[in-house]
Amino acid sequence: MPPTPRGTCQARTLFLGAADLQCLVRRLGLPACIAGVAAQIEADFRRWADFDKSARVAAHSDVGVIELMPVADARRFAFKYVNGHPKNTAEGLPTVMAFGLLADVATGTPTLLAELTLLTAIRTAAMSALAARHLARPGSRTMALIGNGAQAEFQALAFRDLLGITTLRLFDSDPAATAKLQANLAGQGLVMQACSSAADAARGADIVTTVTADKTRATIVTPDMLAPGRHFNAVGGDCPGKTELHPDVLRAARVFVEYEPQSRIEGDVQQMPADFPVTEFWRVLAGEAAGRSSADDITVFDSVGFALEDHAALVWLADAAARQGLGRPLDLVAAPADPKNLFGTLGSSVDGRVSSAFEQATAAAAEQATAVPA
Ligand SMILES: NC(=O)c1ccc[n+]([C@@H]2O[C@H](COP(=O)([O-])OP(=O)(O)OC[C@H]3O[C@@H](n4cnc5c(N)ncnc54)[C@H](O)[C@@H]3O)[C@@H](O)[C@H]2O)c1
Repeated sequence: MPPTPRGTCQARTLFLGAADLQCLVRRLGLPACIAGVAAQIEADFRRWADFDKSARVAAHSDVGVIELMPVADARRFAFKYVNGHPKNTAEGLPTVMAFGLLADVATGTPTLLAELTLLTAIRTAAMSALAARHLARPGSRTMALIGNGAQAEFQALAFRDLLGITTLRLFDSDPAATAKLQANLAGQGLVMQACSSAADAARGADIVTTVTADKTRATIVTPDMLAPGRHFNAVGGDCPGKTELHPDVLRAARVFVEYEPQSRIEGDVQQMPADFPVTEFWRVLAGEAAGRSSADDITVFDSVGFALEDHAALVWLADAAARQGLGRPLDLVAAPADPKNLFGTLGSSVDGRVSSAFEQATAAAAEQATAVPA
């Protein structure tokens, strides 16, 4: 830690970086982390009405999206920063990167700042499996896993442990991604079959998970892949103009979403009219709506990722990290010993006049605004 400046007191925010997250997951084991996050998501979804919810704020570009995802209850505020850039992997960067923050609602103090890329994969898998426990046919054993990138192994293990999936039918347009997944999951008790297409992967599957990344109106799941009783866990269609399911697949199914106002904009249901019926998943957990009602139902979980899942993940993380003694204090916000004397923390830096400094700063800002990006 750098020396504490005169007039300030100890940092109040705990920081957990990528190495801390990796350390935590290695110590606890990935299955325990997925189970812990799934349990926290379920607990939070069961008290849905306690949360102040909104659709996330998104800044779109031709190649991707950057999003802020806030949510709060009476005790904690949480937000996640996350991007989605499908072409990133060709440049050696992940498609999805994230960090997040927890704050104390009573005072506004940020209490935890954490890397969330790994935890996003864990919470997305936990959410998918939690939904499938209520929506997929009991006794499901075979899952097609279409899209074998960064999220895929997490999905596979969540479905192995929370659903009892024993066989994976794998397809990715990049065969190297499938080979990577097979190598990563060797010895994990899963039968893995590499398939020649998405339709081939779906053959005989009880559950079809799509977790592809392409910023386009893709139709990974076509109507010929419909089968009585099949559950579709659609993870990759999560942005305007970015879908995975053919509209006829949605028409044939009972469709469940996380938070309807956000899913109508971002989910596969963006393709459907505003009155197309969807059910928010929390209502199934609360017993207010039916999940699967017969062995022949075709169900879709049209996942986009909702802030409450990240709230749950952050709450779980704060507790798990504290138990493991992980993380370090971060000097994130000023903490003057006299809270009314922020000025007093500056010492001699107040010498000089604002007026002359303003002229220089205005010129520098104008130069920066007209500079051509490198
Ligand atoms: N719903 C959620 O909560 C949530 C959370 C995280 C990520 N996501 C989304 O999940 C998707 C996957 O994320 P990731 O981090 O694994 O990305 P990734 O880039 O690491 O992996 C995506 C994989 O999809 C494959 N792919 C692309 N088009 C395909 C096609 N037509 N058929 C088969 N395979 C295809 C790519 O080759 C790649 O291996 C992204 O779209 C991301 O935005 C959703």
